[in-house]
Amino acid sequence: MIIRNENPADYNKIHALVKSAFQTAELPPSGEEDFVLRLRAGSGYVPELAFVAETAVAASRSGGANKRSSPMARSSVGRIASLEEARSGSRNDSAPLIGHIMLTKTYITTAADKVEALLLAPLCVALEYRNKGIGAALIKHALQKAKEQDYKVVFLVGNPNYYKKFGFAPISSTNITYTMDYPPEVVQVCELEPGFLSNIIGSITIE
Ligand SMILES: CC(C)(COP(=O)(O)OP(=O)(O)OC[C@H]1O[C@@H](n2cnc3c(N)ncnc32)[C@H](O)[C@@H]1OP(=O)(O)O)[C@@H](O)C(=O)NCCC(=O)NCCS
Repeated sequence: MIIRNENPADYNKIHALVKSAFQTAELPPSGEEDFVLRLRAGSGYVPELAFVAETAVAASRSGGANKRSSPMARSSVGRIASLEEARSGSRNDSAPLIGHIMLTKTYITTAADKVEALLLAPLCVALEYRNKGIGAALIKHALQKAKEQDYKVVFLVGNPNYYKKFGFAPISSTNITYTMDYPPEVVQVCELEPGFLSNIIGSITIE
């Protein structure tokens, strides 16, 4: 399995993947595939933080990966493709996409300021590839890349039982409020810089 940045050649396949994957989500399908389009069209879109997972078989067909020489390739979750490979769209366009994740920019509004943050949404893995650690690999990869790009905090709406192992905690553990109509336990936050939120009082809006 390979994780790489999404590129325009993937967009149709991502749309189909997200639509199909969310048929099995806990909440009734709510057009997550179109949410992806809105996020991508918005000012908060960060191409460097939108990723797909694709199968290793496709990767070797594409000729982009030397699986034998890469330690990541020998691991259970595979290797990470370079941003250059992804941006150039040089990988095999017919490769099956099996997972997708996006982090987009959002803001905490405080009394005096706006503080940059990220929203993790949506995340999905193709039904036939679930429970193999692909969701976990996508989350860890996306959070690591966000950290490297100096982002400090990530919010999401999701099942706390799934996300707590990646460092997410209920937003109620902070001084950040939210304006959306979600139960408090599903609105979660992960500080990429520990303590970053300790002196911030504000609110976020998530679509
Ligand atoms: C949620 C999702 C991305 C997980 O992908 P995955 O690749 O199967 O996840 P992983 O293999 O990393 O993790 C599997 C583990 O997470 C658990 N898990 C999966 N979905 C979960 C959920 N919604 N709540 C709690 N735990 C969940 C599995 O039971 C499994 O537990 P185990 O490791 O103890 O056996 C995938 O199920 C999916 O695409 N679901 C539909 C879309 C969706 O709901 N996205 C999340 C929106 S917040």
